[in-house]
Amino acid sequence: MRIEVAEMGIESLAAALEREHREIDDGIGAFTAEPSSEGRDRRPLTRAIRALRRHIYIEEEFLFPALYGAGLTAPVLVMLREHAQMWRTLAALEDEPDTGAALTLCRRLSVQLLHHNLKEEKVLYAEVDRIVPEPAAGRLRSFLGSGELPEGWVCLRART
Ligand SMILES: [Fe+2]
Ligand SMILES: [Fe+2]
Repeated sequence: MRIEVAEMGIESLAAALEREHREIDDGIGAFTAEPSSEGRDRRPLTRAIRALRRHIYIEEEFLFPALYGAGLTAPVLVMLREHAQMWRTLAALEDEPDTGAALTLCRRLSVQLLHHNLKEEKVLYAEVDRIVPEPAAGRLRSFLGSGELPEGWVCLRART
């Protein structure tokens, strides 16, 4: 099925998810790399925060149950724990009006993402196109294109 999708010129689900990782990194980078501290444009960061929350939602609600069910239990549990750590950083970042403190939180988030995404791509995304075949993969790809994070959704391990 993976070959079929590639032949049709459609991006695989794993590739689409990896692209989201890079887009989120780029959004954080656009905020942190801006040279002026005065009037720093926060919009790329706001977009990256929203995109990361939605990315975590897609993984936890649609992707991880299938991967867990296919036997990747330990890596899924690690990813869930790391999502909760990032979720806390996102909440702090969103409430942080001071630019210096926001930059420090961005560095923390970038380190968290670096470790998380590397493992996720190597261990879980490597299996995703096999474990989530078409047409479920197609539905997820279209959600990646236009789906919305439900209002008030909180990642599994950050719920009290
Ligand atoms: Fe993740
Ligand atoms: Fe991810």
